[in-house]
Parts: sequence; structure tokens; C-alpha cells
Amino acid sequence: MADVIIVPHLHAGGAAAATLIAAVLSPKPDMVLGVATGSTPLPIWSALAAMRLDMSRVSAFALDEYLDLPPGHPESYAAVVHREIAVPLGLNPRKVHTPDAQADLRDAPSAYESAIRAAGGIDVQVVGIGRNGHIGFNEPGSSLSGRTHIANLAAQTRRDNARFFESFDQVPTRCITQGVGTILDARRLILVASGRRKADAVAAALEGPVTASVPASALQLHPDVVAIVDEDAASRLSFADHYRMSAPHGDAA
Ligand code: PGA
Repeated sequence: MADVIIVPHLHAGGAAAATLIAAVLSPKPDMVLGVATGSTPLPIWSALAAMRLDMSRVSAFALDEYLDLPPGHPESYAAVVHREIAVPLGLNPRKVHTPDAQADLRDAPSAYESAIRAAGGIDVQVVGIGRNGHIGFNEPGSSLSGRTHIANLAAQTRRDNARFFESFDQVPTRCITQGVGTILDARRLILVASGRRKADAVAAALEGPVTASVPASALQLHPDVVAIVDEDAASRLSFADHYRMSAPHGDAA
């Protein structure tokens, strides 16, 4: 079972996740960090930035990237990761990786897998969760053992991400994403979720059956998952009292 930490609000969640990452970084300054875009992880990056750690030797890998955007588009995840994560954390841009949406798409997925392997694998991967239970852009129905691949975005995901574009129509329909199997290869996973609109997905992921209908439920198969969820996102969990008591990190719960 995942180690579930229920925090009062997203900010406390960011601090808790940043503390976990800093604990890995301290003995391993060249750690490999799996980063996630989206709104929920933002407090993690600001909490980490506030710690003023030397992260110049860290390698970072994003979970996914849109396809069919022009190179350098401000909402491409290459641009988002640079702006929202790499710059505030002081990462070396040469060590920051997103799947290459401009490359030959026959080669880009395996090239990304190779790059992760060459870096030694991911030490800590941060993941958000979609309202439909996706992780990365692994939408419902995705293989739970899949590797990095090209995929279509669910309509729900495109609607949720339309806030970053001028209109729904401008949200790409295709992406390249780490597969669930790739994500599960990370040595430690930190799942973050916030808000009532995520409550059903969080309950299904943490307490429901392991099923391709809820790709995040595959996290139950990983031996080292910390789920940091705020009270709203935890509101549909059946065992919330148990999780609250089991929070191991004094500063988090
Ligand atoms: P969000 O995205 O943090 O912006 O809600 C999470 C996700 O879709 O994986």
C-alpha cells in the first residue's frame, strides 16, 4: 500500500514532497529527478527553490510532451519545464530532458527510454493525477506495463488543459509520454493531488482495483510510493483516518 500523507492544503504538500526530494539529493547530488508539469506540483518546485540547494548536477526527466506544437511554443513541456522548474531550481539545462516532439516519432520514444537508462534510472519521480486517473499522459485504457510511446489525449484531459491555451481547439490531440511501466521503474514515486475534483481519481488509484481503466492504480504495485494529498483530494478515501495516523513525516501531517 502506498504511504499516504494527508495535508491540510497544497502548500504543505509541496513542502513535504520537497523534503523527501532533498533527503535523496543530500547523499546523491547528481540524483535523477523525474519532474511533472501541471499545477499541483508547483508548490514542490517553489519549496525546493526556497531551500537554495545546489541542484546543478541533478538530471531531470519530464513525464511527457505534447506533439504538433511549433518548436519553442510556450506551452510545450520543454518550455514549461524550463520556465517553471529548471530555472527556479538552478538545474543545468543540458541535464534537463523532455521527450523530443520534433524528432522522428519512430525513434523518439526509444531514445527517451535510452536517455533515462543512460542517466542511471530515475531516483524520485513526481507524478500528478488526472481527473480520469491518468498518470503522465497514460489515459484510461493504457497498458500498465507500457514504455514511452505516442498516444492520444483524452477529451477530458484536453478540456482540463485548455486553460493553458487560447481555446480548446488549440490543445494538442497527441503526445509522447513515459509509459506506466517506465514510471514504475523509478526507484521512488511521489504522487501529489489537490482539490475535490481529484477525489474520485485518488480513491480509485489508491484503494480501487489495479486496472487499466485507472492507470494511476498501477502505483499500488510499486514498493515505494508516497502519496501526498490535500484534504479535499482525500475526501473520498475510505481509510483516511488510518493514513492520517500513519503519516511518517512529522512536518507533513
Ligand atoms: P494538474 O495536472 O496538477 O494541473 O491538475 C495533473 C495531471 O493532469 O496529471
